[in-house]
Amino acid sequence: MTTIVVGMQWGDEGKGKIIDILSEKADIIVRYQGGNNAGHTIVLPKEKFILHLIPSGILHKNKKCVIGNGVVVDPQSLIEEIVDLKKRGIEIDKNLLISERCHLIFPYHRILDKLREKKGLLKIGTTGRGIGPCYADKVSRCGIRFADLYSNDFKKKLKNNIKEKNAVLKTYGFKGFVFTEVYEQYQEFGERLKSYVCNCAAILNKAIGNKKNVLFEGAQGTLLDIDYGTYPYVTSSNAIAGGVCAGAGIAPTSIDKIIGVIKAYTTRVGEGPFPGQFSPKLMREFQHLGKEYGATTGRARRCGWFDAVLARHSVKINNLKTIAITKLDVLSNCETIKICTGYRYKNEVLKDLPADSDILFHCQPIYEEYAGWQEDISQIKEYKNLPDSAKKYLCKIEKLLMVKIKIVSVGSERGQTIFI
Ligand code: IMP
Ligand code: MG
Repeated sequence: MTTIVVGMQWGDEGKGKIIDILSEKADIIVRYQGGNNAGHTIVLPKEKFILHLIPSGILHKNKKCVIGNGVVVDPQSLIEEIVDLKKRGIEIDKNLLISERCHLIFPYHRILDKLREKKGLLKIGTTGRGIGPCYADKVSRCGIRFADLYSNDFKKKLKNNIKEKNAVLKTYGFKGFVFTEVYEQYQEFGERLKSYVCNCAAILNKAIGNKKNVLFEGAQGTLLDIDYGTYPYVTSSNAIAGGVCAGAGIAPTSIDKIIGVIKAYTTRVGEGPFPGQFSPKLMREFQHLGKEYGATTGRARRCGWFDAVLARHSVKINNLKTIAITKLDVLSNCETIKICTGYRYKNEVLKDLPADSDILFHCQPIYEEYAGWQEDISQIKEYKNLPDSAKKYLCKIEKLLMVKIKIVSVGSERGQTIFI
């Protein structure tokens, strides 16, 4: 059985928690895109983990965790994550596998990412981790992969790249990198990570053939997808479910199930259009109640009501039939709750997400209003015990999206979950 868990908004939907719960029944958990721009938070009774590169399944014993070829890896950040997890008693060496085809993030990618944000004409509000520049090199065919680290060509490839990047960096007034320093550092990283590096696609396809349970952990979300997100305010990978095939080496016919994860309201970090973003006062309340601060950069997330136009787009692109809805508890104590069901743009009503971000910047949300609930729902374990107005809200979402809600999360801990 293969299952994909995919984000339906702009990331931070609470995928980490859902993956953690589903990992219990999985044999292998796989990341297929993104890099350490992701921050997946898992809250256990006594401690909290934030994972950036290693699949969230690592917290369960004896689960293989795969970093698929579609992920861009900053080896320094990965080593730090490994060291930190080991210190906290998590078994890594037997369980972590990294694809030899993963592209590596180099210091010049990080600098270029930051400089472009500072001096560029278009500010995206990236995480500054070098993700975009690394994927750009992959597509330009000058990227360096794990396999290269262990080949004689590594020296030549890195030399060429540093020469090219230094020329660009000079135009920004930055002095550039010294080849030998980077070379030696990455050789050391290569040695430290060598035992994890392998042909992951072969291992995964064999496991799928043997009817193992494989769980694919999406990072970011559909609206940040390079093709189907709010381009150009997106990340540089295919965060949609379709990204699994290229990002892990799996055929479309090998996918059994896709679960979308969506928050009971909407958030976004960084720049880009966000119809219906709250006024500053309401936004501060949601940031506080929902702890809406980035797990990777600490930035405050922008917040708004549930947006069914965006959600329907994700339902279509990922062909979703079942979804998990998270952070319903954050809506408690709202007198009224709104759902955006369409956009007003000039004299038209739009029911679909426009491809052009300039149009989206000028869309006005059309809302339907619902009565809220005043009870604390964070300890409720069964759907039937939810307040009527919460049930009505969930039913409305099911109707608008034409999906079934199978999981409702009412708090950050594993136990604060309602299965329907
Ligand atoms: P990048 O992925 O660092 O290039 O950032 C591109 C955009 O995606 C920025 O708006 C980031 O804030 C956003 N982004 C990237 N990763 C995440 C994530 O894991 N959660 C939420 N937003 C993200
Ligand atoms: Mg996150």
